[in-house]
Amino acid sequence: MDRLQVSGGIRLSGEVRASGAKNAALPILAASLLADAPLTIGNVPHLRDVTTMIELLGRMGARVTVGERLQVEVDARAISEPFAPYELVRTMRASILVLGPLVARHHEARVSLPGGCAIGARPVDLHVAGLEALGAEVRIEGGYIHARAGRLTGARIVLDTVTVTGTENLMMAATLARGRTVIENAAREPEVVDLAACLNAMGAAVSGAGTDTIVIEGRERLGGCAYTVLPDRIETGTFLVAGAITGGRVRVGGARPEHVDAVLGKLREAGAAVTTGADWIELDMQGRRPLAVDVRTAPYPAFPTDMQAQFAALDAVADGVSTIVETVFENRYMHLLELQRLGADLSLDGRTAVIRGVPRLSGAPVMATDLRASASLVLAGLVAEGTTDIARIYHIDRGYERFEEKLGQLGARIRRVSGPA
Ligand code: EPZ
Repeated sequence: MDRLQVSGGIRLSGEVRASGAKNAALPILAASLLADAPLTIGNVPHLRDVTTMIELLGRMGARVTVGERLQVEVDARAISEPFAPYELVRTMRASILVLGPLVARHHEARVSLPGGCAIGARPVDLHVAGLEALGAEVRIEGGYIHARAGRLTGARIVLDTVTVTGTENLMMAATLARGRTVIENAAREPEVVDLAACLNAMGAAVSGAGTDTIVIEGRERLGGCAYTVLPDRIETGTFLVAGAITGGRVRVGGARPEHVDAVLGKLREAGAAVTTGADWIELDMQGRRPLAVDVRTAPYPAFPTDMQAQFAALDAVADGVSTIVETVFENRYMHLLELQRLGADLSLDGRTAVIRGVPRLSGAPVMATDLRASASLVLAGLVAEGTTDIARIYHIDRGYERFEEKLGQLGARIRRVSGPA
């Protein structure tokens, strides 16, 4: 298995460009199942999770063409097998996003339950309950969701927990239902807004995306379209933290500053000078050590859970004591145990991590446990003395495009090695 070796002590500087957002590309790829014409998607990041989704669509009978310049065309008119097998779903939970489109247009689906992952149980009960509200018959058997429906019927759905892919699944299913669907307590993430814009370009009638109430007027059919995926706000935030943790100066181009307001606020609180333009963000730490900042995650537009691990690394070397409270997932603290191996001084009290910043970390072998935890270990390695050797970095390849290459552009000394640690 591949590992990353990071040498600490380099102050990063330079510019990188944000890739397309993984968490927008995945639902938009799934939306191709709704269309009775090909969908051409631009700015698709080249990531393991995207490859898995493309493989899943292909196995179901869709014809997928990966062009150059990150363009993917999906023709899902002829689905022969509305089936998402466990062997694929367990490697990528977002496979659940094919459920709504399959039921809405192909009237049946057999999708493996995703199962849990390192950060939590990750149930899909709200996805299932919403589809039943739209008229689907759903049975859970043998680890699979078996769903059947005639034409779905619009309904008012109240989500008792804000769920991003739950909102996306139900929004997609409702586009072909008979009549109006209202989704209350909907997720407001930019990726939900991007999906809604793509669905409307396909002929759907979705309004309110980005607010907590989304209204969908069902249509008989959806056509194809050409759509370009928005930039990845979590990748953007990760590179800005790389600049902050090393005291450097980093500019992220092709970004959407308005999608990272909460993160920019915390970076400024940590002492960074942050300037923004229409499609760029520049952070200058002016060689200073970051100040400790408290973080409490919550659904968008609050501080994103997907940036929590990165800020744990920043706080580990910050001046002062900070607290981090993860409110979205029940077990998203695995990275803390690995940061301790690098010398971080922290403790976990229930859902609150207390981090006492130390002036320096020291490199050691560590292990990635989930996507964003891997990124936080790389960030810590950038400032740890000596070399930090990170195992199981396939987690990184799921969600960051050319991660070590982009960090290398900023001056980081990082290389990928193969073989056992
Ligand atoms: C999406 O996951 C993202 N993935 C996650 O990003 C992100 O961390 C998460 O939203 C929160 O922002 C994609 O978009 C592909 P949720 P999702 O449903 O939709 C509970 C990354 O790093 N819940 O919003 O699976 C759930 O247990 C990944 O890129 C239910 O109880 O997350 C959690 O506590 C990691 N029942 C909370 O809702 C349900 O049916 C939020 O989960 C669904 C969710």
